[in-house]
Amino acid sequence: MFRYPAASRMRKRSRPAETDVPRCKEVKFEDVRVYLVERKMGRSRRSFLTQLATSKGFIVEDILSDKVTHVVSEDSQAASLWKWLKERAPMEPPNVHVLDISWFTDSMREGRPVAVETRHLIQDTEPTSAEGSTPTVSQYACQRRTTTENNNKIFTDAFEVLAESYEFNEIEGPCLAFRRAASVLKSLPRAVRCLGETQDLPCLGEHMKAVMEEVLQCGRSLEVEKLLSDERYQTLKLFTSVFGVGPKTADKWYRRGLRSFSDILADRSIHLNRMQQSGFLHYGDISRAVSKAEARSLRNIIDGAARAITPTAILALTGGFRRGKEFGHDVDFIVTTPELGSEESLLPKIIDRLKKQGILLYCDYHASTFDVENLPSQRFEAMDHFAKCFLILHLEDNRVEGGLHTAEGDRRGWRAVRVDLVSPPMDHYAFALLGWTGSRQFERDLRRFARGKRGMLLDNHALYDKTKNEFLAAETEKDIFAHLGLEYIEPWQRNA
Ligand code: CTP
Ligand code: MN
Ligand code: MN
Repeated sequence: MFRYPAASRMRKRSRPAETDVPRCKEVKFEDVRVYLVERKMGRSRRSFLTQLATSKGFIVEDILSDKVTHVVSEDSQAASLWKWLKERAPMEPPNVHVLDISWFTDSMREGRPVAVETRHLIQDTEPTSAEGSTPTVSQYACQRRTTTENNNKIFTDAFEVLAESYEFNEIEGPCLAFRRAASVLKSLPRAVRCLGETQDLPCLGEHMKAVMEEVLQCGRSLEVEKLLSDERYQTLKLFTSVFGVGPKTADKWYRRGLRSFSDILADRSIHLNRMQQSGFLHYGDISRAVSKAEARSLRNIIDGAARAITPTAILALTGGFRRGKEFGHDVDFIVTTPELGSEESLLPKIIDRLKKQGILLYCDYHASTFDVENLPSQRFEAMDHFAKCFLILHLEDNRVEGGLHTAEGDRRGWRAVRVDLVSPPMDHYAFALLGWTGSRQFERDLRRFARGKRGMLLDNHALYDKTKNEFLAAETEKDIFAHLGLEYIEPWQRNA
């Protein structure tokens, strides 16, 4: 599946007007995103306060996501409020203030967001690691070592279904919370055998524990079973398994009443883009896992093409295979050259060679939009700015040691495989390598850690220290971990 940027799926929803407060279309305070906690406040008061703030030019978020900067609550029970918040969303104190209603009323009176003062804060009363009861497992994946061996698959599979279902419904907070919880369990050296063992683990809220308890007792969770047999879930899962089809498109087709591939292909009013056409054309092959041997063979093919162009070409395997996975949905490579600037023309030349070899089945090339002037980026974008291409290649059986990983009885002697190539300039190589090695959860937590714990901005291009106002150069991944004050985590320990 080609994943679309998650952030673009989150849009503010407006609520039906229940009162007569005039709405102001104009946003005056771009940097402030308020979230009003409905608990204790109640729905109608929340709706009223939302409209009041909106009319004054404030942005009020409907959903608790990591975009929120000011959480406002009328719940005076700090401990239960914080517990509730942590179960729902990634709360990272320097970036988000948890405030009582006095900050909100002060701001409404002033007609602008007033500075946060101590008297506004609802303090988290839970003991932090410094005060004893040190949690042995960090809430950040970049402080855990996670190999490909998952001892808690029965739970993480269930969490993944729930996360996916939230994703299909564009409910970002709980989706991330379930992914984060699954990631914590994946890092454990042993299977969890009773709920008591989860007591000191981070990121496991009531909902997650309830699912785990059910799985422990009955071997399955009713909520998950229900989803798995739910028509909408099943259909969206099927549609998004096609290369080029994201949750938005899948949902659009579902709402049109389409339920199967033949429904889609028979519907003449549907226009498939080039990526989706290839997705359907090669569906059987590219929905089948790529083996390590196939990845090695593709490495030789890309390496041959790159070296024919420039003998100094550098090729590195990234993605899941660099993390030691046996199988992947594609094969990811970084390909570049030490001569700064010449990497720009490298991918088009490689693509050209693959075409001449007759093995290029599909190519989506994105020229570089990278410009040092635009760094640092305040907001993480789903795609970095390096030159890259998403390919489908024709792989011959005789090129793969031990043969292709195809279905029993497949006598074609070849298969289609997905390959991603990215080409960063050499002075940004370490950041690109770290960013493209993944896992997605590991990357997310690296960025969250950098921002929340170190006041730094990390992405696939660079690391920026906000307090010193400077970029931190790195030649290797180890340099980046060192800048962040993190112990080095090997690629094969990043399967978070
Ligand atoms: N990535 C990225 N920008 C993209 C696409 C991918 O930074 N436009 C990064 C992702 O963050 C991920 C890595 O590249 O960490 C590999 O992505 P992907 O191939 O989707 O996942 P894998 O971890 O390789 O898993 P699989 O084995 O299923 O391919
Ligand atoms: Mn991959
Ligand atoms: Mn990929």
